[in-house]
Amino acid sequence: MNMSKYIVKGGKKLSGSIRVSGSKNASLPILCAALLTDKKTVLKNVPDIADIHAMIDILQELGCNVSFTQNTITIDPKNIKNKYISSDRVCRMRASILLLGPLLARFGKVKISFPGGCILGKRPVDVHLRALQDLGAEIIDDKKDLHLKTKGLQGKDIVLSEISVTATENAVMAAVLAKGNTKIRLAAAEPHVQDLCNFLNKIGAKIKGIGTHELSITGVKKLHGTEYSITGDYLEAGTFAIAATLTNGDVKINGIKPHQLDSFWEKLREAGAEFELGKNYVHIKTHKKLVAVQKIRTSVFPSFPTDLQAPFSVLLTQTEGESMIHETLFDGRLNYLFELEKMGAKFEIINPHQALINGPVKLKGVPISSWDIRAGAAMVLAALVAKGTTEISNIGYIDRGYENLDKKLRKLGAIIERK
Ligand code: EPU
Repeated sequence: MNMSKYIVKGGKKLSGSIRVSGSKNASLPILCAALLTDKKTVLKNVPDIADIHAMIDILQELGCNVSFTQNTITIDPKNIKNKYISSDRVCRMRASILLLGPLLARFGKVKISFPGGCILGKRPVDVHLRALQDLGAEIIDDKKDLHLKTKGLQGKDIVLSEISVTATENAVMAAVLAKGNTKIRLAAAEPHVQDLCNFLNKIGAKIKGIGTHELSITGVKKLHGTEYSITGDYLEAGTFAIAATLTNGDVKINGIKPHQLDSFWEKLREAGAEFELGKNYVHIKTHKKLVAVQKIRTSVFPSFPTDLQAPFSVLLTQTEGESMIHETLFDGRLNYLFELEKMGAKFEIINPHQALINGPVKLKGVPISSWDIRAGAAMVLAALVAKGTTEISNIGYIDRGYENLDKKLRKLGAIIERK
């Protein structure tokens, strides 16, 4: 784990403009999808972040020729070997589960270490396995390892047992090379799932219903290479929109599709933020007063994204009144509140999924730690408005998901350095 820290001096209003990087959660499955063909793929606008490097390491271990310069990745999977993916790799990044679908489709078998039990927490993989079984996979082992094989994937009408982002992505990647037609109901529709489907169509897949909860796929025999540009990161855009609002700044955030954050903008407006949405930007302007929101309820797209829950809660420490947050997707995704408490945040945890946040409070700079990618970003946001200096440790988590967060914030006038 990266031992670097961020040292942030709070109190600066942000101003200026930035362009968001490409989406992490689109780049990761698309890198895996590049294994579905033996031809070369060039991906542009890929964020230079730790999770992408972790995925590249795995692809190289599998024998792919990969180069990564200036946000462009070239993958040549011609010499790929279907090797076992070990537990240290899988623990480093749960998204390595995205190799299940492509390797199974390409080689008829796949074996990776079971992704539970490591630092990422025990998140079950039943939705992934059921979907792949429905498409004709046989499970050899699902305890120590995930070991699957198939005599040939067969298209089918399947219903995911839960709307899951990476399970949908695995099912789609398996179905594009399956024989016949597949329907995936209760599919996730997040912008990164859409980007994966658009990429797959560009390399010759036949997917319809992109952006809805029902995907129709006609299997094809072969896919080809392409050049593709990854979509802008709407989660990074939301994080910067909160940073600008928190500091009552004036910031233009470019490179986004604003409608991907519809539910987020509604809540930001309810909190008293002022902003203008353009074709591919949002311009956050100074506001008069911030007020509590009735309720933030996270759910699957297009509802409020869970990955912006922790960042938004920081804003709710600065709004007048009591706001409720309701995290419906994950257990344990309110733990960061205890770090914020050290800075002076006032809240009441009702149960593992709901909390009341009271504001406005004056946050003060103290040593704090980052819990995961999004909680880490929330700590940086809190530090931007805290009195004094905040030292944030464990920023390796932030590096996993945000490209040059400190550099972009400095460009907008924040006082933040990496030590
Ligand atoms: N779930 C199951 N069984 C499964 C799959 C999911 O019970 O087989 C549960 C999970 O435990 C969770 C819920 O379903 O409660 C949602 O999980 P989902 O499968 O949708 O999450 P994921 O695919 O593992 C992706 C993102 C996460 C993001 C979630 C929710 C990627 C690589 N990861 O994870 O991103 O929080 O969807 O939108 O796309 C992040 O970027 O910081 C991050 C954690």
